[in-house]
Amino acid sequence: MTVLAPPSTPTPSVASPTPTGPAVAAEVPALLPTVGASESVPLVGGRRARFVHLDTAASAPALTRVANHVSDVLPFYASVHRGAGYLSQLCTGLYEQARVTVGRAVGARADDVVVFTRNTTDALNLLSAAVPGEVVVLDVEHHANLLPWRSPSPGHGVRVVPSGSTLGETEAALAAELARRPAALLAVTGASNVTGEVPDLPRLVRLAHAHGARIAVDAAQLLPHRGFDLAGLGADYVAFSGHKLYAPFGAGALVGRRDWLDEAEPHLAGGGAVRQVTTTGTEWASSPERHEGGTPAVLGALALAEALRTLEATGPGRIRAHEASLHRRLVDGLRLRGIEPLRIWPDAADVVGVVSFTVPGFRSALVASYLSAEHGIGVRDGRFCAHPLLARLGVDDGAVRASLGVANSSADVDRLLGALDLLVAEGPRWTYTADGCRPLPDDRELPAWAAVTGLQALGTASTPCAPSNTPAAGADR
Ligand code: ALA
Repeated sequence: MTVLAPPSTPTPSVASPTPTGPAVAAEVPALLPTVGASESVPLVGGRRARFVHLDTAASAPALTRVANHVSDVLPFYASVHRGAGYLSQLCTGLYEQARVTVGRAVGARADDVVVFTRNTTDALNLLSAAVPGEVVVLDVEHHANLLPWRSPSPGHGVRVVPSGSTLGETEAALAAELARRPAALLAVTGASNVTGEVPDLPRLVRLAHAHGARIAVDAAQLLPHRGFDLAGLGADYVAFSGHKLYAPFGAGALVGRRDWLDEAEPHLAGGGAVRQVTTTGTEWASSPERHEGGTPAVLGALALAEALRTLEATGPGRIRAHEASLHRRLVDGLRLRGIEPLRIWPDAADVVGVVSFTVPGFRSALVASYLSAEHGIGVRDGRFCAHPLLARLGVDDGAVRASLGVANSSADVDRLLGALDLLVAEGPRWTYTADGCRPLPDDRELPAWAAVTGLQALGTASTPCAPSNTPAAGADR
């Protein structure tokens, strides 16, 4: 999984001049088995349908191999770095081997550090405390690559550069900002979580280094689709999440240069992060232990390593080809229906399987609720934790996002397109709350096993219309 496709490689889904309808396109099966792939879910009114998971950009289903690996390990699970027992020794070995696997999978250099974190947000928060100066970002970033850099400390904090309307203009804007005042770090998305567009990372690496800055890549959306090669690219840091890599067991990682990480305050002060503690002083360990205080998410780290092994064995080329054909089918199908996916940079040659759009005449919250309640299709709607980008794209009321991965088939895409046809032709058949966020009533039953949890019904906890997802009056964009 260390192959980064050249950015000039055209993605047929975007470039295709002649839209091809689903009726004539070839069937495309899922590429890899995942847990729950054939699961049915209740619809409003008492029917059921196979769940169509088109929300892998938020959280991807577990690969079957990952779940099996976790099941294999569980009987042997014990504390790492602490116990003398056989199980502890085994788990410590497995955990450190997972670190090696993860580093190798993302092209880490021999002297790079792999720190296991909870997710990308956690990884970038860790890095933010280590950066010895200001950070430059674009206004297209996910909040995970925007908010951690904000700092009241003089000489730190973030400078947000408005993106241009092309990649070329955007690179020029970044170059001007880096030339105007030196920065310690350029932090960029590897692929937009809203549009799937991939910036020209080799050019951005050269740009940052030419201005004396390091570069960190938020690869949360890129790594599951394209792999990553830290050394080959020449980037300094990469951050990513297991739950977007078909390994939803609580671990992500930050991989990169050791010096800043060893000079930083520990990300999590506590046991395991130290060499020596007295009642008055602490001698901290070096990285990665320095930043992994407390007992880590051992199963999460092992799951992440197994996911990367599985994707590597599948082959980046096969993953890319599978996704490209589904992406083309989806984008062409939307265009046939007069729906144009959102884009930041129309000249971006590479786009991963993340497609956001609005349906004229329907609030995005209603579209997403309808797809779920009447068709068993899971998408995300709202502002995707990228408020400045959604404002920039003029989608103040949010959009709908369908995202694709190795678990998807052409039947999934066709189900979405068919459901949109019905919506536009006939409108929803059920009733919904005024904001469109929930079916009213919502009579979908819970799985029998959920009774033990005390949960009574859907929609009583956090929902797609949580405040962070929808615009609030006077919200700071
Ligand atoms: N970052 C995730 C998304 O884009 C949660 O949906």
